[in-house]
Amino acid sequence: MSDWVEVARVEDLPAGAWKVVDAGDARIAVFNIDGCYCAIEDLCTHDGGELASGCLDGDVIVCPRHGARFCVRTGEALSAPAFEPTAVFPVRVERGIVQVRDDRWD
Ligand code: FES
Repeated sequence: MSDWVEVARVEDLPAGAWKVVDAGDARIAVFNIDGCYCAIEDLCTHDGGELASGCLDGDVIVCPRHGARFCVRTGEALSAPAFEPTAVFPVRVERGIVQVRDDRWD
């Protein structure tokens, strides 16, 4: 089973903020959406853009390369030119530390 990776202290990831961490082979973007943590792979399914470099609009991140929109809660691709979802990951808080885990290969 893969290990949990530390993202940030709770106070350092306020609502509306996000942070990217390396977890094994994946870059994962962890978001605080109105106090709810969610995590997606920092990889646009259209052509590999770094989603976390885009703009956040509510719970939607806009790919900075060609404008595809993804829900950061579900990973769903909401608009062309992306059609496939990006991966989502479990997030937890342990002793005040936000953690994420790439559980795809467990
Ligand atoms: S790489 Fe993200 S929309 Fe093209």
